[in-house]
Amino acid sequence: SVDSLLYAKFSANTYFGNHFFGAKVLFSIFSPLQVLLVFAKEDSQSNGFCWACEKANYRCSLAHTPESALECFSEKHHDLVIVDHRHSRHFDAEALCRPDREEASVMPLINAGFNRRYVENANMMACYNELLQLEHGEVRAQFKLRACNAIFTALEQSQDAIEITSEDQVIQYVNPAYEAIMGYQQGELLGKEIIEVPKSEKNKPDLLETINTCIRKGKEWQGIYYAKKKNGDNIQQNVKITPVIGQGGCFSSPDIQSSKHKDRRKGSLDVRSTTSRGSDGSSQRRHSSMARIHSMTIEAPITKVINIINAAQESSPMPVAEALDRVLEILRTTELYSPQLGTKDEDPHTNDLVGGLMTDGLRRLSGNEYILSTKQPHHLPSHLATPLSLNDIPPRIAQTMETEGSWDFDIFNLEAATMKRPLTYLGLKIFSKFGVCEFLNCPEATLRSWLQVIEANYHSSNSYHNSTHAADVLHATAYFLCKERVKQSLDPIDEVAALIAATVHDVDHPGRTNSFLCNAGSELAILYNDTAVLESHHAALAFQLTTRDDKCNIFKYIERNEYRTLRQAVIDMVLATEMTKHFEHVNKFVNSINKPLAALEENGESVKSILTSPENRILVKRMLIKCADISNPCRPLELCIEWAGRISEEYFAQTDEEKRQGLPVVMPVFDRHTCSIPKSQISFIDYFITDMFDAWDAFADLPNLMQHLDNNFKYWKGLDERKLHSLRPPPE
Ligand SMILES: *[C@@H]1O[C@H](CO)[C@@H](O)[C@H](O)[C@H]1NC(C)=O
Ligand SMILES: *[C@@H]1O[C@H](CO)[C@@H](O)[C@H](O)[C@H]1NC(C)=O
Repeated sequence: SVDSLLYAKFSANTYFGNHFFGAKVLFSIFSPLQVLLVFAKEDSQSNGFCWACEKANYRCSLAHTPESALECFSEKHHDLVIVDHRHSRHFDAEALCRPDREEASVMPLINAGFNRRYVENANMMACYNELLQLEHGEVRAQFKLRACNAIFTALEQSQDAIEITSEDQVIQYVNPAYEAIMGYQQGELLGKEIIEVPKSEKNKPDLLETINTCIRKGKEWQGIYYAKKKNGDNIQQNVKITPVIGQGGCFSSPDIQSSKHKDRRKGSLDVRSTTSRGSDGSSQRRHSSMARIHSMTIEAPITKVINIINAAQESSPMPVAEALDRVLEILRTTELYSPQLGTKDEDPHTNDLVGGLMTDGLRRLSGNEYILSTKQPHHLPSHLATPLSLNDIPPRIAQTMETEGSWDFDIFNLEAATMKRPLTYLGLKIFSKFGVCEFLNCPEATLRSWLQVIEANYHSSNSYHNSTHAADVLHATAYFLCKERVKQSLDPIDEVAALIAATVHDVDHPGRTNSFLCNAGSELAILYNDTAVLESHHAALAFQLTTRDDKCNIFKYIERNEYRTLRQAVIDMVLATEMTKHFEHVNKFVNSINKPLAALEENGESVKSILTSPENRILVKRMLIKCADISNPCRPLELCIEWAGRISEEYFAQTDEEKRQGLPVVMPVFDRHTCSIPKSQISFIDYFITDMFDAWDAFADLPNLMQHLDNNFKYWKGLDERKLHSLRPPPE
């Protein structure tokens, strides 16, 4: 309990709080590790470290005051200093290493060389583990860096001529003895290929060939070699050539990973390190900053992967190491999941869709401030404030919704029958079918008000992103939730989250894309740092609208923990509809779910654990809402055509406005005067839809959707082949 108190303090403003031990890595190369403990008083913690030092065979000294610590340190130059930062009234750990401290931030400590903190734990094994980690992590790395200095000092001093080349035989280094013996200045040789340096004709003609073959196999070559001095004289030498394989050669050119170094040693060399502690302060400082940066990086999974690959490279044959280099190159990019579009010959429709839907703010312009209409969010619309219950639903509307369970359900009929309030009515029906009120323990009246508020905050003026789209996505979501596989995978709370997320997922959509908002410098783009602007806004506004008024707060009657879980799931799903992450979500789904399922099914094994693990449930929910969100091309042809018309119109309106306002045109193909709608649909299906629905179908089994998709695709192809740009063929 004391610990958690201290932690709490820690994460509040006083970052270093009361509770800090630092370890300062200094230098030592060959002697046993020297540890200095600076503790105002001995206690179980200092004892823990003393015993741990004994167990690890380190030399340990203990100082009680800053003065004695400094004295002791200047005498022994400890490799590791552990300072008690719990009792600041005894002394100030920061001041101890940096007298002119101005601010209580982490920087002064880092500048002073402190790079780890250890939270109080007097257990001897815990101390021991900490010390071992330090030794094998940073301290040893420090030693290696220092050893490197020492070795180069030795190279410089050696009586033997030494030459180091890169893998492609470019000279990287020659030592002074080489200069003296061969008569060249270093500057004349560095960066030259060794074949450019005149060769002696006294060697056997195939000697170089022999040497190269040997080196390429990773073997050392030793023998007699005639070298030509600068003045033309030949000298006979006993030469040793050693390939250096693996990383970390000091002269590698920075952009070559794991390069091989060929080390042409003329004569033999016996390096004996004679480093002087404390010399060459500047390079040591540089090294220790690097070590600090490494030790401070919190290790992300991808870093671990990269480290594992690096380690594997060290012992791999060349072709494997090279293949791994390419792997690393790919892994290091952040856009792991976005296919790279070639620049030329690429279909302009695809390019525009990708640029328009997947790129945030890259085409930012300054100056043109576009302010979203700053109206207040709608509260209960007056014409709908009259009580309405499922039983009161007018028969015409109820009848329209009878086929709601079918994929081919016609949402546009409902839009007309409800006078543009499809979301409220369909919401009532679907939420009651899934028992959402029972789950949330909330009165139906609350749900009704909530649906009305949410629907009122969709913009009826958008030709696509109005509440009919939300109702459509809700419909698709409910449909998917009834699929056997989906039911096996999700819990009731996931289902409720999915239905809520679908309902709110585009609330207050301005009818413009993220890229537009970023380019226009809209308030929302500013607020959300040009990142997932709309999706963040939908999620945030949905919760504001819900919780600001008890009348429509459907979350009011559930427990806090349940609320948090639900809220998390809804936010995650709404954010998953952002197209920038499209390929990430799809690929994760395929790799974590489709592939393992296929493998297990082949062996007839149980798939339960894959379906229900928490991580995979998240992936299923994301995929579910993504597919529901862009399922238009999988609807019956007539519906598909209507949706295509609406989205095109919304994009055209954006292009019109971009031109009017002198903003960059984000999707130039969506120009109402020139656009081929069939082409744009074909590109959209090719690029975003086909793979995603193949994966979703493999999971959820949706033959009717795939049939429609195929059919619709053929329809657009047919129009395109006739060079038609419109939604429908002209009447015969
Ligand atoms: C959505 O936009 C279309 C125009 O594309 C319009 O006809 C329809 O009434 C709108 N629906 C709602 C609910 O606002
Ligand atoms: C936007 O960036 C600023 C500065 O990095 C940060 O403080 C803020 O939290 C960010 N806002 C969002 C919504 O990410």
